[in-house]
Amino acid sequence: MTDLRHPIFARLYPRLDAATAKAGGDAHRAELLDGASGRVLELGAGYGANFPHYPAAVAEVVAVEPEPRLRALAARAAAGAPVPISVRPGVAEDLDLDDASFDVAVASLVLCSVRDPARALAELRRVLRPGGQLRYYEHVRGRTAGKVRLQRYADLVWPLISGGCRVSRPTDEWIAGSGFTVRGERRFEFPPTRAPNPASPHVLGIAVRD
Ligand SMILES: C[S@@+](CC[C@H](N)C(=O)[O-])C[C@H]1O[C@@H](n2cnc3c(N)ncnc32)[C@H](O)[C@@H]1O
Repeated sequence: MTDLRHPIFARLYPRLDAATAKAGGDAHRAELLDGASGRVLELGAGYGANFPHYPAAVAEVVAVEPEPRLRALAARAAAGAPVPISVRPGVAEDLDLDDASFDVAVASLVLCSVRDPARALAELRRVLRPGGQLRYYEHVRGRTAGKVRLQRYADLVWPLISGGCRVSRPTDEWIAGSGFTVRGERRFEFPPTRAPNPASPHVLGIAVRD
């Protein structure tokens, strides 16, 4: 069974994300996909917020999304996308996709939510061809003791209302330790706010499958 139902989150997420899109999220998505080409896997595509940003050099996108309501929205977004996109059910930990069959894999704001990030990264590595790119845009664990403490407290309740998202994951370190070589990464606080934000910092990067 590849459906993971989070009906309340699925209703809220597109609206919440629209607000961050204006604050810079759209620009981050464009940066994430700038220069991508060939056959692309997008993991946990949500409602398809990345779809308008795929460049013409992308031949095909296979978008996997386990949440049925988000998947339906993604299918609608795919119809208006600038490149061919097929949307299908599936989970990151057990991708029904061939070995070494993608040039690029895209993970945006998703490795925070998968149940088993180590398995998900192993699956991404498996389906990418050697030399293929993992392009990622994720919020990650902070670097100060105070921030990490805040994130650990947030993780006691936040996953219950956010479709399982955990804010204290060092996803950037896990990527670097999972058979990928990081070719470029930038780290930044987002969205800009004076209030302490447990779902920040973010990283935007490209790692190459070894
Ligand atoms: C915060 S949303 C981000 C959606 C989209 N990637 C974006 O950038 O807007 C997290 C997404 O991860 C998906 N997700 C959760 N667990 C997953 C899993 N095990 N495998 C694949 N996707 C998963 C959710 O259904 C949801 O679409």
